[in-house]
Amino acid sequence: MPTTELILGQTLCFTGDPFQDGPDAASHNRHGAVAVRDGKIIDVGDADTLRNGHPQAKVTDQGDALLMAGFVDSHVHYPQTGIIASWGKRLIDWLNSYTFPEETRFKDVDYATEIAEVYCDLALTNGTTTAASYCTIHPESVDAYFTAAQARGMRMLGGKTCMDRNAPDGLRDTARSAYDDSKALIDRWHGVDRLSYIITPRFAPTSSGEQLSALGALWSERPDCLMQTHLSEQHEEIAWVKDLFPHARDYLDVYEQHGLVGEGAVMGHAIHLTPREIDRMSDTGVRVGHCPTSNTFIGSGLCDVTGLHQRGIPVGLATDTGGGSSFSMLRTMASAYEVGQLRGTPLHPAQLLYLATVGSSKALGLQDKIGNLATGMEADLIALDLSSTPAIAQRSKRADDIWEAVFPTIMMGDDRAISGVWVNGRDMRGG
Ligand code: GUN
Ligand code: ZN
Repeated sequence: MPTTELILGQTLCFTGDPFQDGPDAASHNRHGAVAVRDGKIIDVGDADTLRNGHPQAKVTDQGDALLMAGFVDSHVHYPQTGIIASWGKRLIDWLNSYTFPEETRFKDVDYATEIAEVYCDLALTNGTTTAASYCTIHPESVDAYFTAAQARGMRMLGGKTCMDRNAPDGLRDTARSAYDDSKALIDRWHGVDRLSYIITPRFAPTSSGEQLSALGALWSERPDCLMQTHLSEQHEEIAWVKDLFPHARDYLDVYEQHGLVGEGAVMGHAIHLTPREIDRMSDTGVRVGHCPTSNTFIGSGLCDVTGLHQRGIPVGLATDTGGGSSFSMLRTMASAYEVGQLRGTPLHPAQLLYLATVGSSKALGLQDKIGNLATGMEADLIALDLSSTPAIAQRSKRADDIWEAVFPTIMMGDDRAISGVWVNGRDMRGG
């Protein structure tokens, strides 16, 4: 018979959307507890009440740490782990100088396995329990990624990146092989344990119309899969798309003409959008992965997260490693705050934590499974030490409420703030 574990600490869960309802959409309990059994959350509430309700439970006391859902990274490139923090280029040069040479190496399954394992361990160290990753064009890179995730019991999503033009030798597939390989990978991995396949054309400049159509056809055959790609990240990129697809009304329309717009489409970046694109995204259920450290690091621009939210477009938070400059969703929240400041719409800590958990899980269509502390959800959770460094501790000890207590960790925290990680109820720190 499985045992119940009772994890004690401060708890934070969302009962609404802080973009609509303000900070009251979050519920904080100073002396809370989460009861976990058989990989699921079976109870969340007051510590004393849960202790009485589960007298046989194994108790793990996390003290003052804040228990919350594990972070969900809605857009990342695990193959770029080794080239994170590469200096001085904008998007297209950055892809050609750093990214494509590195991605070429993933033909070698041993190398792909090594990096996939490093990536999954870094994600967990940083409190990220779910990520949606681009792999490379090589099916081996997908096998390596899902194998590493499966070994750790993680709920992870990903797909073979498809490119049949404007990429170097060794990093191009074809319309036919992209379709065939993606389909075979769906059959091999989609729905196995906690893994989900995402159909993944990299972006319009590296796919012919024929390839985009083939992937659109695949998506219509397998609507149970998500589709991920990049949209309107940099002005030079948008101008290039206009040249390559002169008959499209705009960048989004390129995807729409090829059957790649609809519910379950997750667009990375989505910074420089026209009013028509925003209307269309809102009407069709397209979701966005907001990648603030990437948008500042590569010099792309400032995404209007608040505006997208107001239009009902689900937005998740994302590292976009290695265009993004961090593996940490805390650092990513700090960057989202700074981007909001520069746009004149600073995000409240409740909004930042929401984006990194519920927001991303909604963007990935997983809100019934992960991203919140609630009965029936999968037990992917973290404990946040709100005094993990002297700099943070001296600030948080002055706090009058939970938001003032957690904001220094959002702004200055890193993997040292992650004092506990549970994946599907399993304590990944070996407890
Ligand atoms: N656009 C197309 N590919 C990429 C990528 O790997 N990273 C980023 N940031 N943007 C892209
Ligand atoms: Zn990306």
